Amino acid sequence: MSTLSAPLPGGTWTLGDLTVTRFGYGAMQLAGPGVMGPPADHDGALAVLREVVDLGITHLDTSDAYGPHLTNRLIREALHPYPASLRIVTKVGATRDRQGGWPTARAPEDLRRSVHENLENLGVEVLDVVNLRLGDAQGTQAGSLAEPFEALVELQRQGLIRHLGVSNATAEQVAEAQAIAPIVCVQNMYNLAYRRDDELIDALAEDGVAYVPFFPLGGFSPLQSSALSSVAARLSTTPMSVALAWLLQRSPNILLIPGTSSAAHLRENVAGAGVPLTGAELAELDEIGR
Ligand SMILES: NC(=O)c1ccc[n+]([C@@H]2O[C@H](COP(=O)([O-])OP(=O)(O)OC[C@H]3O[C@@H](n4cnc5c(N)ncnc54)[C@H](OP(=O)(O)O)[C@@H]3O)[C@@H](O)[C@H]2O)c1
Repeated sequence: MSTLSAPLPGGTWTLGDLTVTRFGYGAMQLAGPGVMGPPADHDGALAVLREVVDLGITHLDTSDAYGPHLTNRLIREALHPYPASLRIVTKVGATRDRQGGWPTARAPEDLRRSVHENLENLGVEVLDVVNLRLGDAQGTQAGSLAEPFEALVELQRQGLIRHLGVSNATAEQVAEAQAIAPIVCVQNMYNLAYRRDDELIDALAEDGVAYVPFFPLGGFSPLQSSALSSVAARLSTTPMSVALAWLLQRSPNILLIPGTSSAAHLRENVAGAGVPLTGAELAELDEIGR
C-alpha cells in the first residue's frame, strides 16, 4: 500500500502483461563496497527496500551477482511475501570472482544454475523478468547471443521465467534476440551525459519495448555538468532530480531504476523526478551529451 497521496512521477508502463511504475528502484547499492559482501547497515538496507514498497514503487531491479546472492536474500527478508503488484527484474550471465570482478557466465548450464539460484534466493516459483547480461564490465561486445538467449527461452518454456530482456546489448544483439523470442526490456548504460543508445531508444519505443538505463545518475562517478547544475539551481532542485526528470521526459518507454542505499535519497529522487522541464531547459540539457 502506497503512503504517497500523489502518483509516482512518470506513471506506469507494461512489461509484457506486467504493469510497473516507471519510477523503479535498482538494488545494486545495497550490498557492501564493490557490490561484494553484506551491507554495512543491514537494518538500514531492509528499511530502504520497505520504503520502496511504501512509496508505491512496483519495479525492483536486482541480480544474484550482487553480494553475490546477498542482495536477493535481503529483498526476500525485507519484502517476502511480496505485494501482488511488485515485479522483480533480475539478470543472469555474469558471476563474481574473489577479487570482486564480474566474469561472464553465459554457458547454458551457468544460466540454468543462475535462474534456479535467483528463484531460491528471492523465494519465488517464477521470475517476472530475466535479462540476459551480455558484454563484460567494460561494456558491450559484438557477437551472437543465440546460444545463451535460446537457453533462457527454454527456461521460459519450462515456466520458470515470465518475460525476457537483454542487458549491455548492442542494437544488433537486440534485433537478434527479437528474431528468436519477444523481449520486454533492454537494460543498457544511458544517462544525460552518455547517449549512445538514442536511436535504439526511439526504435524500441515504436516496438513497445521498455528501455531501462543503468547508471541513470552516473553510477560510480556521479553526473557533473555546469549546464545540469545551472538548470537545477534555476528550478531550486538538485542535479540528480533534473537528471531523472530528463530521462522520464526523454521517452515514454524509459523506466528509471536509480540506485541508493539511503531511504532519504530514495524519497528525494521520487520527489525530484517529477520536476517539469520546459522546452528551453530540455534543449539546454540535450547539449550535455552531444
Ligand atoms: N545491467 C547492468 O549491467 C547494470 C550495471 C550497473 C547497474 N545496474 C542496475 O542499475 C541500477 C542503477 O545503477 P547504479 O545504482 O549503479 O547507479 P546510479 O543509479 O546512476 O547511481 C547510484 C549512486 O548515486 C547515489 N545517489 C542516488 N540518489 C542520490 C541522491 N538523491 N543524492 C546523492 N546521491 C545519490 C547513490 O549513493 P547513495 O547510496 O549514497 O544514495 C549511488 O552512489 C543498479 O542498482 C542496478 O540495479 C545494471
